[in-house]
Amino acid sequence: MNKRILMSRIFPDVAAELLKAAGFTVTVWDEDRPMTTDEMIMYSKVHDALYCTSTDRIDKRFLNECSGLDIISQFAVGFDNIDIAEATRLGIPVGYTPDVLNEATADVAFGLLLATSRKMFHLYKKIINDQWGYFKPKADLGIELRNKTLGIYGLGRIGMEMAKLCKGAYNMNVIYHNRTRNLKAERELDSKYVDFPGLLSQSDVISVHCSLNAETKGIFNMEAFGRMKKTAIFINTARGKVHNEKDLTEALSTGMIWGAGLDVTNPEPMKPDNPLLRMENVCVLPHIGSATVETRDKMARLAAENIIEFYRSGKFPNIVNPEVLGS
Ligand code: DGY
Repeated sequence: MNKRILMSRIFPDVAAELLKAAGFTVTVWDEDRPMTTDEMIMYSKVHDALYCTSTDRIDKRFLNECSGLDIISQFAVGFDNIDIAEATRLGIPVGYTPDVLNEATADVAFGLLLATSRKMFHLYKKIINDQWGYFKPKADLGIELRNKTLGIYGLGRIGMEMAKLCKGAYNMNVIYHNRTRNLKAERELDSKYVDFPGLLSQSDVISVHCSLNAETKGIFNMEAFGRMKKTAIFINTARGKVHNEKDLTEALSTGMIWGAGLDVTNPEPMKPDNPLLRMENVCVLPHIGSATVETRDKMARLAAENIIEFYRSGKFPNIVNPEVLGS
């Protein structure tokens, strides 16, 4: 098919391979830096489709300048970097990659929970800073997770995997708060729906798995942390803007909550002098939830297939704004 696809960076090989095998011409931005918005606009204007990811800013200006794009295919499950309302108004379908990263992302949430509960990052830093010292029975104590209550904020597909891990490993009791009830989770995991104040006050661990939108932005603020248990651990592997980072820092440093494990921060990248990086009960990772060979390959394949299927049949299943295609 004689269509030109722009890839905003180097993605796993399978993406370009599939697109080329389907007959498309593929341009890959292969510089060791992201494209600027102006560059992305300039290149997108001479391509038919854009293959991008969650750190590419696809805002009103971009969309209006590049309204000739047939499709935007995002290599990510989140799409808060894209002005979906504007893309929809302009009739541009937006694809994404749900489901394939559920398990990898939940693994990171679970890993951060265990690491935070046992202060693992802090203890590793003690060794490399030559501070191992001598055995002190009351020092460096963590807290155990067995039979504790896990509160999931945003119990969707990734939250389900996290709940399964916590239940299987530590028999944790699962409660959750969502916009709509997740009856499957209630059935399969014996999880209980609670209102937001209930989630805050009852959870020993709160793990965030929601999407970023007007309702969730900054919802974990001082007021929310103030309602949590002093022994609570806060885990966020969804989007950094769901928590207010200044408030989180204060809540941790004043003992309002016990610890935090973050795969997402606000802003990203986090600056190396951020005080959170020096706290004993905080573990931070650089947004690597989906970063396994298997999962990134699946995401690359799915985002390519979204484009191929769109040009083949005029429709594709993993679409954010199906109304554009009249489905
Ligand atoms: C996603 O797929 O949304 C991940 O968070 C990477 O951005």
